[in-house]
Amino acid sequence: MTRGERRAALEAIASEVRSCTRCRLSESRTLAVPGEGDPDTEVVLVGEGPGFNEDREGRPFVGRAGGLLVRLLASIGWQREDVFITNVVKCRPPENRDPEPDEIAACAPYLRRQLEVLDPAVVVTLGRHSMATFLPGARIGQVHGTTHPADPSTGARDALVFAMYHPAAALRTPALEHESLEDVARVPATLLRSRELRAAHAAAPAPAAGPDTRAPDAGPAAPAADPGPAPDLAPALASPALDAAADPAADDASQLTLF
Ligand code: URA
Ligand code: SF4
Repeated sequence: MTRGERRAALEAIASEVRSCTRCRLSESRTLAVPGEGDPDTEVVLVGEGPGFNEDREGRPFVGRAGGLLVRLLASIGWQREDVFITNVVKCRPPENRDPEPDEIAACAPYLRRQLEVLDPAVVVTLGRHSMATFLPGARIGQVHGTTHPADPSTGARDALVFAMYHPAAALRTPALEHESLEDVARVPATLLRSRELRAAHAAAPAPAAGPDTRAPDAGPAAPAADPGPAPDLAPALASPALDAAADPAADDASQLTLF
């Protein structure tokens, strides 16, 4: 897909979201919040759901949690325009309550379709509900700051998932803000790792599922391209200011090193 095609496909999803009535959150919302960002980005951030300010503006992470998110991104030299930011539910739960399972399920196709269009290399989950969508059964206190292969059924067909605390939780608890700064510092290395995996997959695609049609004497199958689940990136690999020279794919040594 070209950039223009991706932009148009994302806008088509966004306009469906803006008029969606698939769950009860449509009754109390002011504006739905489809998400926004660079249609060519390699990194998608997924929050929980719009809050008070987002509901009024129709844009994700524009309140206080958004302020912290922007600071976290700035700590690795990124701006919010460089990534795509969206949420598990696109309409504000009343009183900022947690989204209900049936609301999450009703809204899930929009996130899946956004991920299919964006085909990100990295999905950063923000908070428990987003984590649960990509890493079912995981516990945030254990998985924050770690990397896992995305299940392609999420729409992210070849991505690494990186879990973080929700910025609103980090605002409430200084220790979590500190941990979030440490966690986000690992995102650039996660992106480099995902690029390597994606390049390997592109060079030797996984065989299509289905009956094995190889002749019985065709010899051993080609070695699998997939080295398996990505190991946790060692803290030593994670550098807040990843050197552009370390990334042969970066042709632009400006501040947007990784894009
Ligand atoms: N919290 C979220 O999870 N998402 C937003 O867009 C804003 C606050
Ligand atoms: Fe539709 Fe999602 Fe909003 Fe529910 S939360 S009304 S499913 S866009």
